Amino acid sequence: MATDVSALQEELREDPYPLYRVLRESGRAHWSELPRGWLIPHHSDVVAVLRDPRLGVDRRVRSDSRCPHDRASILDKQHDQTLFFMDPPAHTRLRERVRHAFTPRRVEALRPRIQAIAEELLEAAASRGRLELIADFAYPLPVRVIAELLGIPADDLPLLRRWSDDLAVLLVEPFKDEDADARCEASLTEMRTYFEAVFSERRSAPRDDLVSELVGAEPADALDDDELFGLVSLVLVAGHETTTNLIGNSVLALLRNPEARRFLAVDPSRTADAVDELLRFESPVQVAQRIALEDCEVAGQRVRRGDRLYPLLGSANRDPEAFPEPDRLDFRRGEVRHVAFGSGRHFCLGAALARLEGAVALETLMRRLPSFKADFEKPVWRQRLVLRGLETLPLRF
Ligand code: HEM
Repeated sequence: MATDVSALQEELREDPYPLYRVLRESGRAHWSELPRGWLIPHHSDVVAVLRDPRLGVDRRVRSDSRCPHDRASILDKQHDQTLFFMDPPAHTRLRERVRHAFTPRRVEALRPRIQAIAEELLEAAASRGRLELIADFAYPLPVRVIAELLGIPADDLPLLRRWSDDLAVLLVEPFKDEDADARCEASLTEMRTYFEAVFSERRSAPRDDLVSELVGAEPADALDDDELFGLVSLVLVAGHETTTNLIGNSVLALLRNPEARRFLAVDPSRTADAVDELLRFESPVQVAQRIALEDCEVAGQRVRRGDRLYPLLGSANRDPEAFPEPDRLDFRRGEVRHVAFGSGRHFCLGAALARLEGAVALETLMRRLPSFKADFEKPVWRQRLVLRGLETLPLRF
């Protein structure tokens, strides 16, 4: 196993599973200097941590949590208004305001649009005779869906990509390059100006979209602009890269596992269930984060108030105690109790939407381009550790 940090990061990006195995086999909680916190690798402990009310997400519990310079206040504000980093009661109130938009029934109503976008993207690829799966399909599909849901015009999608990329690093990645905070601050400022204009437009002329619903709330439920921006920007980021990664990681897994691919080709009606096994097998979010709100014992380890904990979702999903033969992609497992969407009060709000997009994407790809093959020697992973996904995945057919 690599010892210097950049080699270790590279190794983790390529294949984190050997390290996860070593961690699981050598204890329940491991202190790591790299993210400065406790790594929790087992499925049962990860579920317990995610559901433990003594562990929260509000980093204000830590004295060193604020950004070190004054101009960073916009970054701090963004953290403080983001569901990911809010504890009850603020979390409960804000989540309740947006929950209804993502119920399985509301999401199912989006199916015809998701299907139409998937067909359109693959039609264009078929006529070109090539498909770079990420740029041509896995990225634009969820982005167009989330933009339509929010009511953002298609012309503005390139802006959303830049903002969302910068914000994703701020919100979840433990390792950032030196310029990340400054880039993120610039993106947040532009994004905020953009969305304030959208909020005021929708207040005066509501449409049939999520932003209009949120700004049009009764006065008792009304959200201020900080709360609105926190919600909308999170939905945008959370609904962006994660689902791209689900589609990209799934197609790579099918290329590497011909038997599983044949199973779906023979019976496409199993695609929706297969998505959960694919989420387990190559989880788009590998790591969650918690902070101890009090001194307590977690996974057999004494932790102190303010200590960070990192439940390793990707490791929990390969834990043999929870999944027999965990390194096998097996669509016959029955119910897959993975933690790819987390667990407990921060359970992914977009899980139903992500599952539907993943199922529609795979089913449409396998139907329209059944002979797709890898057009690369080695997959190129993105420079991320928490969000596991591919930079490119060129296919021929
Ligand atoms: C395959 C795709 C996705 C994966 C793997 C995923 C994964 C996750 C995970 C692991 C969490 C919990 C983090 C924690 O406990 O700290 C989470 C939370 C969240 N997700 Fe997703 N997500 C996906 C897609 C989406 C989509 C499409 C949306 C929105 C449209 C979305 C919106 C959210 C939101 C708003 C939260 C925060 C919930 C809260 O803190 O209460 N996600 N997601």
